[in-house]
Amino acid sequence: MKIIKEGPLFYLHSKNMTMIIEEHSGYLFMKYIGRQVKQYHQSNAVVMKDHAFSGNPYPECREFSLDTQRMLIGQHGLGDFRQPSVRIQHGNNDVTDFRYVSHEIKAGVLVSQGLPSPYSQAEDATTLSITLADTVAELELIIHFTVYNTSDAITTFSEVRNVGKERAVIHQLQSVMLDLPKDDYDLITFQGAYAREKTVRRHTLNQGIFRVSSNRGASGHAQTPAAILTHPTTTDDYGEALAIQLIYSGNFELICQQSQLNDVRLSLGINHENFSWTLEAGQQFNSPVALINYSSKGLNDLSQTSHEFITQHIIPEQFAKTARPILVNNWEATYFDFNRDKLLDIAERASELGIELFVLDDGWFGQRKDDNSSLGDWQVNEEKIQGTLAELIAQVKGKGLQFGLWFEPEMISEDSDLYRTHPEWAIQLPERPHTYSRNQLVLNFANPEVVNYMKKLLDDLLSRHEIDYVKWDMNRNITNIGNGQDYAGSMMQTHQYMLGLYSLVEYLTTKHDHILFESCSGGGGRNDLGMMRYFPQVWSSDNTDAISRLQIQHGSSYLHPVISMGAHVSAVPNHQMNRITDLKTRADVAMMGNLGYELDLNLLTDEEKQAVKEQVTRYKILRPIVQFGQQYRLMHTANETAVQFTYEQRVLLTYVKVLSTYEDMETTVKLKGLEEDSLYCLEETDQLYSGAELMYAGLTMDTPRGDFQSLQLLLTKV
Ligand code: GLA
Repeated sequence: MKIIKEGPLFYLHSKNMTMIIEEHSGYLFMKYIGRQVKQYHQSNAVVMKDHAFSGNPYPECREFSLDTQRMLIGQHGLGDFRQPSVRIQHGNNDVTDFRYVSHEIKAGVLVSQGLPSPYSQAEDATTLSITLADTVAELELIIHFTVYNTSDAITTFSEVRNVGKERAVIHQLQSVMLDLPKDDYDLITFQGAYAREKTVRRHTLNQGIFRVSSNRGASGHAQTPAAILTHPTTTDDYGEALAIQLIYSGNFELICQQSQLNDVRLSLGINHENFSWTLEAGQQFNSPVALINYSSKGLNDLSQTSHEFITQHIIPEQFAKTARPILVNNWEATYFDFNRDKLLDIAERASELGIELFVLDDGWFGQRKDDNSSLGDWQVNEEKIQGTLAELIAQVKGKGLQFGLWFEPEMISEDSDLYRTHPEWAIQLPERPHTYSRNQLVLNFANPEVVNYMKKLLDDLLSRHEIDYVKWDMNRNITNIGNGQDYAGSMMQTHQYMLGLYSLVEYLTTKHDHILFESCSGGGGRNDLGMMRYFPQVWSSDNTDAISRLQIQHGSSYLHPVISMGAHVSAVPNHQMNRITDLKTRADVAMMGNLGYELDLNLLTDEEKQAVKEQVTRYKILRPIVQFGQQYRLMHTANETAVQFTYEQRVLLTYVKVLSTYEDMETTVKLKGLEEDSLYCLEETDQLYSGAELMYAGLTMDTPRGDFQSLQLLLTKV
């Protein structure tokens, strides 16, 4: 049994991970989460003593306080002074006292209604649903926990039901809350900005509150709805680490509080600022799902655990283990300035070079000649592409390439036929002017009429054309928004927008399940597990500079599998950084993701074309190693990066040096996860090395001289 109830204790066992919950007078305590524990006898119980200034629910017992216990949910107003995880207004206050009523254990995983949820075979997953009730507030809270046989993972979400006769308003409902005992902790977050997404930030925790959040209506470039709680001594190879991630793409908040007793409360959920959800009698609300992963073997093992979970339970099944096509995208090649001949010239070159997919980016629809107009008018501009879309697709396919198309379905330009017909469909506040960003507005996906219009339009377009890939962009964040539901459909809160968006993408990706969807938001502005549940791939940054990508890909590797990440070779000087990098380095870096090209292939010299052809051929050999293999971070300093991928018999090692320095003229990297007694043959020299020597003595490389240089080494187990 994976979930066991023994007396007052619930044991939740995933593969090698355990969570223990205790029920006591209806209170639910979080006793433990971490490495497997099969028998627990309160060894770490909070000491029963009078902690001054902490409220006591029982008059005769000053030793017991909700402020000092490790709770499963945080409720304020009755003595727990830490950050709450649940806050629901009823009558004239928002104090609740949810107590255990019953529980149920079932095979399989549950869907959080209308929200991206993990999938699983019934025999792999077991779910515990605990029902709590507050009889004064007349509310029920149901917390679901799912454990997985094959993964060190637990997923969880909550439901609130209004079982009374009066209206209640949810102000906060975190998807996960973990109370952990006093210890030395570090918290790792993934922050940054546009063009430098997923920068790894490691914070030392101190007494107080650390909070990372978004109120953009998207997870955003500058923060990720995820964190890793670990210790100062934990490295990639040693030590304990626990990751939490929200399977959601809207406003979120991550709160980490070290209390006066130095214990830690970590929670993650919808951002409570700008959020309030009315529950009329009989109504219910579901939180997004959160994922918890754990490892006792260092951060790299935690990363692999997360990667595996995401490929087995989040990324749509038909794409999770399907090789991704090598693409060419015309954006940086042409921007808005193209016609059919120009596109077909690129497609022709692509086909000669062995590229597999041609992607037509922004600019093919309405009167779109720059980024000021036409969003919403998803009719092909036949004048510009000199014919119909079907004809263009047929011509591209005639060259042996698949066809992909860019969309930005959530947006509307003021200068568009759609806006002229339906100005009320843009998100707006009554009597206030619009706020623009990239000169565009956002469609109100909280309005089912808008969502249905888009469902029909996109379904029709995708049904009538042979499209293999869709790049789904979102190039601004949401403003001019309310925080209530009842504003005549035009003013809403972003959670309603998210529900509309999810219903649209669920419909389209289910109906057109052969299409590979890539999520984009000016690069990685919405690079989270919510989108990944529908869209197997993410354009992780608009920054295509190979050297900048090292940081972005490094940050991405902590939680997201490489198969979810597109990575392109672009022109030099690089359009974002103005840096000149060798074609080899650009390709070696992009080959650590799903390889693509984003430049005008016609402008390459013959020598460069030959090099691209060789890269494409080589990537077809390396592709399973990168996309299906296990990833190891071997080295990541300001000047040097080394990454290893291992799949079946083969090991790929990529090394990149930023600046040429004397101290980095030769470098030794220690490989990981090899078989000690097996022999591995280095392709370049045919030299055999034992797994043990590669891991423990390391491989010394004469690194290439010059700035921005790279090596790509392939080893095969003999
Ligand atoms: C965003 C994307 C780019 C490109 C442009 C098109 O910025 O991130 O890759 O598609 O939009 O306008």
